Parts: sequence; C-alpha cells; structure tokens
Amino acid sequence: MTLRTRPPATATSSARRFPSDFAWGVATAAYQIEGAANEDGRGQSIWDTFSHTPGSVLNGHTGDVACDHYHRWQEDIDLMRELGVTAYRFSVAWPRIFPHGTGQVNVAGLDWYERLVDCLLDAGIQPWLTLYHWDLPQELEDLGGWPVRATADAFGQYAEAVGRRLGDRVRDWITLNEPWCSAFLGYHTGEHAPGRHDVGLALRASHTLLLAHGLAVGALRSTVRSDAAIGITLNPTSVAAATQSAADVAAAGRFDGFRNRWFLDPLYGRGYPDDMLEYYGDRFPRPTDEDLLTIAAPIDLLGVNYYEPHIVRFDPHDAFLHAATVDPGGVQVTQMGWLVQPAGLRELLSRLVKDYPVGRLAITENGAAYPDHTFEGRVADPERTRYLAQHLEAAAAAVEEGVPLHGYFAWSLLDNFEWAWGFTRRFGIVHVDFETQRRTVKDSGHWYREFIGAHSGGARARPA
Ligand code: GCO
Repeated sequence: MTLRTRPPATATSSARRFPSDFAWGVATAAYQIEGAANEDGRGQSIWDTFSHTPGSVLNGHTGDVACDHYHRWQEDIDLMRELGVTAYRFSVAWPRIFPHGTGQVNVAGLDWYERLVDCLLDAGIQPWLTLYHWDLPQELEDLGGWPVRATADAFGQYAEAVGRRLGDRVRDWITLNEPWCSAFLGYHTGEHAPGRHDVGLALRASHTLLLAHGLAVGALRSTVRSDAAIGITLNPTSVAAATQSAADVAAAGRFDGFRNRWFLDPLYGRGYPDDMLEYYGDRFPRPTDEDLLTIAAPIDLLGVNYYEPHIVRFDPHDAFLHAATVDPGGVQVTQMGWLVQPAGLRELLSRLVKDYPVGRLAITENGAAYPDHTFEGRVADPERTRYLAQHLEAAAAAVEEGVPLHGYFAWSLLDNFEWAWGFTRRFGIVHVDFETQRRTVKDSGHWYREFIGAHSGGARARPA
C-alpha cells in the first residue's frame, strides 16, 4: 500500500480551467509567523498583550517566536519557490513600522519588508501585501483602539509610509484583513485581542475600520504605482436558513446583514443596510455622508477568505442577533469544527458578482486544520489535500460561470500561531516543528505544487 496522497482524478483538468495569469499563492500573517517580538525597534501590539494575558490563548501560547520567520524568511522564500507558487500574501506588522502607532517611522521595520519584497520579486513571486492583519499597536488601543476615530487617521498615515517605501514594487495591496473579526471578535465576544466585551464598541470599531480602509485607499493611490490593484479582504459567507419558518428566514437575513452586507454595502457606495441600522438602533451612531464617501473609495480588488458556509436558525437566547448557526449533520467538519462545503464557495462568489460591482476577485485565504500524521520524515494529510482539491474545483466552476477570479491563496504556507488556539491547530501545507523550527512540506504541499504545475501545462504532475 502506498500512503502517498493520490491527487484527485480531476486535478489536471480543473487546474487548466483557470486563466493563464492566475495568481497561485500561499498566505500568512505577521503575528502568526514572524516572532522576533522585540527586535529592530518593533513596538507592542494588542496581540502581544492579549497572548501574554493568562487565560486568553490556549496553553498560554504566544507569538513571541512563532515560526521565527523574521530570521528564516529566506528559507521560507526558498520553500515557496519549491512549491512553485507565483504569489505570496503576507502582512506588514504595523508596530514594526510605527512602534507607537503614530509619530516617528521605524526605518528598520521598513527595511526588513523591503528585503522580503525584493527577494520575492527576484524569485518571480508577486508580493500581495496586507497592511493590517490584526496587530494594532498597543499604544493606539490604550487611546481607545478601533472604536475611536483617531485610529483610522493613524492607519492612513501608516498606509502612506508603507506605500511610499514599497509602492514602486508591490502591485497588489490589501488594506484590512477581515474587519468583521477585528471588530466583533476583538470588541464583542472578546475571543481575540484586545478581548473586550461590548457590542456598542464593536459596532463603532466596524465603522472606524471601514473608514481606516477608505483613508488607506486614498493614501495608497497617491503613493503607489499607477497600475496597482488596491482592495480589501473580507470574510463574507454563504448563509442559508435552517428551515423555511419565518423566524429562521429572518434570523438568516440578520446574519447575512451582520456578516456580509454590513461591510459590502458601504464599501460599494450603498451606505449601511437599513434593516441592520434599524436593528442596531442606538448602539450604532449614524455616520456622516462624508465618512460614507471615504469608505466607498473605488477599489480594484475584493479579497475573499472562505472556510465554511453558515446555516442559521432563530435563537431567542442569543441576546445580540437572536440567531445561531447550526450543524446540519452528515457534513464533514475540520478540526476547527468548520463545515466542509465547497459548494458554499461557488455560491458565495456568484452572489458577490451578482449583488456588487466587484471587478477583480481573489480567494485570499482557504484551507483547513487537521491533525497531521508524521512518520519517517513525511507528513501525510489527505484530508487537507481533499479540502484544497474540492475548493479549487468549486473555484474552477465559478471561473467557468464567468466569476472574475484572479487568484487563490492557500491558508497557510506554514503551520503557525492560530490566534486563540495557539499552536494547537495546524493549517500549513508545510509542517513546522516548533521545537526545532524544521520545515517539512506536507503531502498537501506536494499536491498543490503538482496542481500549479498542471495549470501552467508543465510536466510536474507525477503519477500517484
Ligand atoms: C482568518 C485569519 C487567519 C486565520 C485563518 C484560520 O481568516 O481568520 O485571516 O489568520 O489563521 O483564517 O482561522
């Protein structure tokens, strides 16, 4: 018996269904991989504070060292080269650039990202730069954090500094990663940094985040190359009602408003959705027209992070939304308990194209956590390979339906610090031994390399 993961029969055929200039990527985020928390003038972020607060992260894990990518970045670029990816989505740590959030730029921070970008370009890998993947400088949180408007101004200045330094080389820019998480997991449920529990703060945070995005778009437009693609990454989801009862259908509508329309509508110039404004009532101060105009600054790209769909029912015990998600049963789940439903991705992409003038789309994250089986230097992860293959198949089908999809980024290049789960959930297509920092390409990584090779018509696909 061979334990090598057998690529699904459709691998080559579905790979060839993507446009020839498609970005084949892997994604990471600064706090999840870099480590070097106190080096070269880096300031503290809310995730440093949160992870060092007992009880916040499983097993007391922190990102102090993480994958030590800050020192091993060249080795990691070599890995990407080996995988044959054509694009790499990473995030810049704001506290490396502005240790105090605003004020004096830390040149050493910009130098480090410049070396990374130059080396990627030399390797023929397009850098996709995310400005914010959740590591707000702690000093800005001390002044009120995302619920406070000054944070948006500070973000605009930060965007400008990064744009000035790297804007001649980086073409693809993402302002924020999943502002829904920053606002609601950070300020309402408290599962993420800064760990606060106030829905009013979360709603204000959602507005400041969108405003910050709009200001950053403006700052980037005036500093980066004219052919740049500037956008934002959201985690929109496909939503279905658990039953056709009026209560469940209304709950699903609210959930859609909360997760999807609350962000998409203002970004595409429609302002906040009326049903949600009414639902949130006094908890959300009405924004000015000027703010709405800033938020609706034209973008070139919408990044979609997709992991699972949501099936929603009415729940009288849920104080905020009166809604709960249900596990339909009979559907496979990942180690996170997330539903494996690739059809949800296709449905979501079609809906985005139908309801919004999206222009270019990219799947900026997609992947799965599963326990890996390591033996004799090999990491077997057939479930992850299957997950990636099925979602790429769904993406190919969306492309054939006319969805303007321009890239796919597997989450993640490396096993890494999975937020409140610490190092206990592995999403990498490359295994990391956190004791030795040794990297081993998993079977899913080998499979992805073959898939990318098949797309470009190369002879890389090996018989299983
Ligand atoms: C997110 C974040 C990633 C996570 C990944 C798995 O999408 O939530 O961008 O940082 O690690 O999604 O949870």
